Amino acid sequence: MTSATAVDHFPAPAFPEVAFLGRSNVGKSSVINSLLGAKIAKTSSTPGRTQAINFFEVRWPGKPQPEVVFADLPGYGYARVPRAISSQWSGFIDPYLKERRCLTLCLVLIDVNVPPQESDRQLFEYLRSVERPFLVVATKADKLSGNTLRRALDAFQKTTPNLRVVPYSARTGSGRDELWREIREAIRP
Ligand code: GTP
Ligand code: MG
Repeated sequence: MTSATAVDHFPAPAFPEVAFLGRSNVGKSSVINSLLGAKIAKTSSTPGRTQAINFFEVRWPGKPQPEVVFADLPGYGYARVPRAISSQWSGFIDPYLKERRCLTLCLVLIDVNVPPQESDRQLFEYLRSVERPFLVVATKADKLSGNTLRRALDAFQKTTPNLRVVPYSARTGSGRDELWREIREAIRP
């Protein structure tokens, strides 16, 4: 089992970092908690809960040095707070994504129950333009049954070919092992 500590990390750490990005309320903080098996990132049914970048150092058992840092970012694209979100983007998210040297992997979360939005496509484009490796995590997979889930994933793949997608449920833990494999692979020295 991993352990995790919330830290104030704006100066870049020497450890690899994984950023969790996606629209407000898509489940970023919940996926972090599910991966860590701890309620460390604050979650809420009110979109816009995460308003700053929150960092969590993750340690493997018996090792004092963190193996990876998880960065929980504010969500984008929630209608009620457009100005706040866009000023956050230009103020600190954009420089973070462009310049953060330790940033090894970006996870872009989409809600598998909602077709990908323009804001999601803009983020894919943006990450490509700044040459950040990223992986799509399709959250809230527990809300769809097997066949419907398959169809939703196929539809997503059709509109956005060449993107790798891991279906995930923070509620049931499905997708957890696969996502950990992806993270471990990305942060391997
Ligand atoms: P912001 O910080 O506001 O951008 O939101 P967030 O992306 O961090 O979302 P958060 O983890 O706070 O979750 C938002 C809501 O979705 C909460 O009510 C969660 O309980 C719910 N939720 C998150 N993950 C899942 C999931 O896998 N399945 C289901 N059914 N609900 C989920
Ligand atoms: Mg959050």
